[in-house]
Amino acid sequence: IINQSDSLPLQGKQILVTAGGTKERIDPVRYISNDSSGRMGHAIAEAAMKKGAEVILITASELAVHSQIKQIKVESAQEMYEAVDANFENINVLIMAAAVSDYTPVKQENHKMKKKDELSIELKKTKDILKEMGQKKAHQLLVGFAAETDNIEEYALKKLKEKNVDFIVANDVSRRDRGFNSNDNEVIIYSKQDDPVLISLSDKSRIAERIIELIIEQLG
Ligand code: CTP
Ligand code: CA
Repeated sequence: IINQSDSLPLQGKQILVTAGGTKERIDPVRYISNDSSGRMGHAIAEAAMKKGAEVILITASELAVHSQIKQIKVESAQEMYEAVDANFENINVLIMAAAVSDYTPVKQENHKMKKKDELSIELKKTKDILKEMGQKKAHQLLVGFAAETDNIEEYALKKLKEKNVDFIVANDVSRRDRGFNSNDNEVIIYSKQDDPVLISLSDKSRIAERIIELIIEQLG
């Protein structure tokens, strides 16, 4: 008899991961986006898969995805919201590593806009996907990220509470050697119950493994 629970502790678990920076279309050839590469989310999806989870990756990034991971490609925050919402009920864990655009154009032009001397683009807030899922949460474990340039602890704890999530993985995006669009990251993981956990500067697959280890502990 082979007992796989040690090497594959996430077997039978469904994990939904989001990745990448969403693109909010202004017109057919222009959009608003951010510096997220998608690497952190993709590394987390892979780390969860290696521990036996059934992984769905909702990604706004062009990065390649392992064939054992179910990939759903999206572009905008609204598309990402719809894909997360459609899958939320059945999953055990949601990890929102995506850098979701906070704003989207009020209207999207169907034709390429012609240049003029001045242009204002009216923006409206996008849906907060993580917060919406926090409100719906039943059995699901929720993990959010916090991209901050200052007051990291204060803002991370605020997000933990206001979004009703189990963990916030906070990273300092003011540093060029880590975080957005870098190979490496250094994060502090906040939760309601435990002391913050520092994962010191290492490559994103190592960071991903540590995040997955914490989730495995939490799932018991
Ligand atoms: N998030 C989300 N939907 C949004 C914006 C953010 O689900 N419309 C998620 C991110 O994926 C991340 C967490 O919320 O897991 C925190 O994102 P962050 O940008 O750090 O915080 P915001 O809540 O957007 O607040 P602010 O940008 O003002 O700090
Ligand atoms: Ca934001």
